[in-house]
Amino acid sequence: MIARSAAINVMIGAARKAARGLLRDFGEVEQLQVSKKGPGDFVSAADLRVEKMLRQELQKARPDYGFLLEESGTFEGNDRHNVWVVDPLDGTTNFLHGIPHFAISIGLVRDGEPIAGVIYQPLTDEMFWAEKGNGSFVNEHRLRVSARRQLEDAVIATGIPHQGRPEHARFLRQLPAVMAATSGVRRFGSAALDLAYVAAGRYEGFWEIGLKPWDIAAGIILVKEAGGYISEIDGGHDMLESGNVLAANDHLHLPLGNLLRSAG
Ligand code: IPD
Ligand code: CA
Ligand code: CA
Repeated sequence: MIARSAAINVMIGAARKAARGLLRDFGEVEQLQVSKKGPGDFVSAADLRVEKMLRQELQKARPDYGFLLEESGTFEGNDRHNVWVVDPLDGTTNFLHGIPHFAISIGLVRDGEPIAGVIYQPLTDEMFWAEKGNGSFVNEHRLRVSARRQLEDAVIATGIPHQGRPEHARFLRQLPAVMAATSGVRRFGSAALDLAYVAAGRYEGFWEIGLKPWDIAAGIILVKEAGGYISEIDGGHDMLESGNVLAANDHLHLPLGNLLRSAG
């Protein structure tokens, strides 16, 4: 049995509890697909329900911590050092379309640094979790980033900016550079899971611009504790503020960064 801190147990418990409703709602969405009105409003309500439950559970265990919640915003706690950073449903577009790839993401950020994270993919029952200094895990198994050393062998995930998002032109310069150098690019639609999969060695790397703190707070610590590197594309470390992220194993972080930087 792996030793887990009390904080991680709280996060895992909250994610599991909230996921039950999310799974029920996903079943419902699959039905709503066929209706003319579509499941849009229903999914916004599901987001909020899950977030409310996560907040309740986390607050019960740590009444003084602050919150940064995607749907309901910021709440300052009496404890100014610790903040829960929560995305109740990462992969909303997938969820809305009945595509089975989405997750709950909970990060614990202490004085601006993610120190613990949980990303739960309920459909596969994979609980990705990590704590500073203690490693990254999926369920009971230790995670380690991929050992592949060559870009030509690498599968790289990304996020494609869509309607209403900035940086379309920049992405269209970056993509061909990565396409031409690697064995494949994936766009699965959940940045949290993209980072968890880098930690799990499924992807060799991931980049995206325009992300929010709740998309990446948990993923940052997962990648680091699995032995990977994560920074902004230009090498800076203000990912939570800039939303600009490049994650990879130790061999490929620099070459992938060079490719993206030279593309612009
Ligand atoms: C989105 C997903 C997606 C990423 C977007 C995010 P949401 O989060 O993580 O993969 O490309 O930038 O906004 O809206 O599904 O919580
Ligand atoms: Ca998100
Ligand atoms: Ca979300």
